[in-house]
Amino acid sequence: MHPSSGLTNLAFVTHRSALTVQRSIDLLAGSQTPQGAIPASTVHELYRYGWLRDGSWCAYALDRAGRTPAAAAWHHWVAATLLRHEHRVDQALAAVRTNTVNGAVMMPARFTLTGEQEPQAAEAWPNFQTDCYGFWLWALADHIRRGGHLDPTLQQAAQLVTRYLLGAGEVPCFDCWEEHPGQLHTASLAAVSAGLRNAGALLGDSTAQAYAEKLRTRLLGCEHTVAGGFIRFPGDTRVDGSLLWLGVPLGIVPVDGRLYATTVSRIRDELYRPEGGVRRYQGDTFYGGGQWILLAASLGWATLAMGDSDLAPQLLAWIEGSANHEGYLPEQVADDPQSPHMLAYWRERWGATATPLLWSHAMHVILHDELKAGS
Ligand code: BGC
Repeated sequence: MHPSSGLTNLAFVTHRSALTVQRSIDLLAGSQTPQGAIPASTVHELYRYGWLRDGSWCAYALDRAGRTPAAAAWHHWVAATLLRHEHRVDQALAAVRTNTVNGAVMMPARFTLTGEQEPQAAEAWPNFQTDCYGFWLWALADHIRRGGHLDPTLQQAAQLVTRYLLGAGEVPCFDCWEEHPGQLHTASLAAVSAGLRNAGALLGDSTAQAYAEKLRTRLLGCEHTVAGGFIRFPGDTRVDGSLLWLGVPLGIVPVDGRLYATTVSRIRDELYRPEGGVRRYQGDTFYGGGQWILLAASLGWATLAMGDSDLAPQLLAWIEGSANHEGYLPEQVADDPQSPHMLAYWRERWGATATPLLWSHAMHVILHDELKAGS
């Protein structure tokens, strides 16, 4: 809170920052193709694909900002793309049944902006990540709840994805950071569970709802928790910033419960930097393992939901202060890298960190909206 002005926290931080929430909203909407696709980044060569995970968060932010048609266009781009690849869902499910799963046969995390499968890239970038599909169902259900129209195309695509996740939801895969293959990632299972729960309610599919609940129960058990808090995946007892999503927005656990409180407290102790930002996990080496904008917003949202209104304005101020002179937010800030050596390595290999990262801007919009709601 500003010491003397009596302004709300929100007014204080937004007044001082160069990046406005309107800039983030315009950037999200303005980056959309006429077909509705949203790239991960408009500038970075390797990020010019439509990721279902990043896009789900962007569409969710657009919905929250009242840009329903833009969110609808994105959902229709996803639906059209997936329905064109229906045969691939059948191939993937056959691979699960016959125990012949491999990264190439499972549904991809991203498509080209025209909805095609990514051409064989020079850089082999992992694609099999189930959380993307869970996040899409979650974002779609939220879109409909906010007044979007569930037309037959969206409904058919949601049924297709539900069918995919009922078969592939518990197949070990890459995590939401596209790392650590062959694991059952806590945040990924959470996205699948929340997506199936909400889509199941939307479609009147009790099988999907029952499976979502079974996954949720699994998440609460000893495979995914240690010492009273969630862990990254069975066998890795580290905490991960993505675990913040289990409370908000995924609602796998109540935000006032002990499991979530312990997880958030551990994230604050081990991943949050008082100078600003939140790391993905200890030992992260991607671009040196810096502080991620989107996780800073997630922590702000989590603490607000838990009734603590002190940290979120500081995190919003840090996020807005991290924008470059064009008002672009990066994927991560590298002023305090865990590994300076690996920061130099990635800069040499891929150039500067992806900027603007639209998911970062989406999270800026979301945290801003959360603070506005509470002010
Ligand atoms: C991140 C993913 C993200 C992708 C596109 C990767 O560096 O780890 O979470 O989906 O970039 O933004």
